[in-house]
Amino acid sequence: MEISVMGRRVGYDERGQGTPLVLIHGFPLNRMIWEAQWEGLSDVAHVIAPDLRGFGESEMIDAPTEVSTYADDVRELLDALGIHEPAIIAGHSMGGYVAMAYLRRYPQHVAGLVLTTTKATADTMEGKAGRDKNIGVAKEKGADAIAEGMLPKVFSPKTYESNPELVAQAKRIMQSASVPGIVGALSAMRDRPDSTGTLLEFSQPTLIVAGADDALMSAADQENMKQAARNSTLVTLPNAGHLAPMEQPEAYNNAVTEFLATLKS
Ligand code: MLT
Repeated sequence: MEISVMGRRVGYDERGQGTPLVLIHGFPLNRMIWEAQWEGLSDVAHVIAPDLRGFGESEMIDAPTEVSTYADDVRELLDALGIHEPAIIAGHSMGGYVAMAYLRRYPQHVAGLVLTTTKATADTMEGKAGRDKNIGVAKEKGADAIAEGMLPKVFSPKTYESNPELVAQAKRIMQSASVPGIVGALSAMRDRPDSTGTLLEFSQPTLIVAGADDALMSAADQENMKQAARNSTLVTLPNAGHLAPMEQPEAYNNAVTEFLATLKS
C-alpha cells in the first residue's frame, strides 16, 4: 500500500485489529522482511509495517537523515492512518535504533518495545569509519555491492547453506534499496546516540529477541539491553542469525504472540 504523508510517498502494510504493532525494518532492507509477521501476527495485533524513507516504496528526501528523522516519519504515518493510541514499537536492527529514537521522542505513544537483533549502544570509532567506507562503496558501486557485503553476515551459517531461496529473497530486497536511502541510513546509524539511558528510563514491557547465530549483534549487546530495560524479557532463537524474523518466522511470531498476551493479562 502507499500513502502520501506530508507530501511524500510512503509504502506500508497494515493488517489485523487490536493493539497497534509497528514493525520497523533494518538496513538495507524494507518492509518485505516482515512478510511472515504481518501474515502470522495479524490475528493478534493491528500490524503496521512501513518502508523507511529511501527503502521499498518510500520516497527519499534530499535532506540529512538521523534516526530521529525515521522516528518522526513513523509518527507521521501513524497520524495519517488515524492511529493515536500507544503502540508496541518493534524494530529489527537499524529499526531497533529507530524504535529507541521513537521512544525518546514520543514516549506517550509507546505501550511496549520489541527489540530484535539490535543494540542500544552507539557506533564505536571503528564502526563510524566503517559507515563512511560503506557510504563510499554505495556511491561508487551501488546497492548491489552493499548487498554482496551484507548478505553472508545476516543469516545463520545453516540457513545460508541450506535455504538459497531465502538468501535470494533477502538479496533482492537489499538490491532494491536506493543509493540515497542507503547513504542516509549509514549516516543516521553512524551518528546515532547511545540509547542505554532511554531504556533505563523505560518501564513498559520490552521483549528482546536475539538470534543465537547473529554475526552482527553480540550476546553481550542483548544482555546490556536486558539489564537497561527493567521490564524486559530476552528470548534467544536457535538456528537464527541477524535476520531472525525471516529465518525462524514461527518461533519469532510465537515469542511476539506470547509477549502480546502478557500485555493483556
Ligand atoms: C541492520 O541490520 O539494520 C544493520 O546491520 C545494523 C547496523 O549496521 O548497525
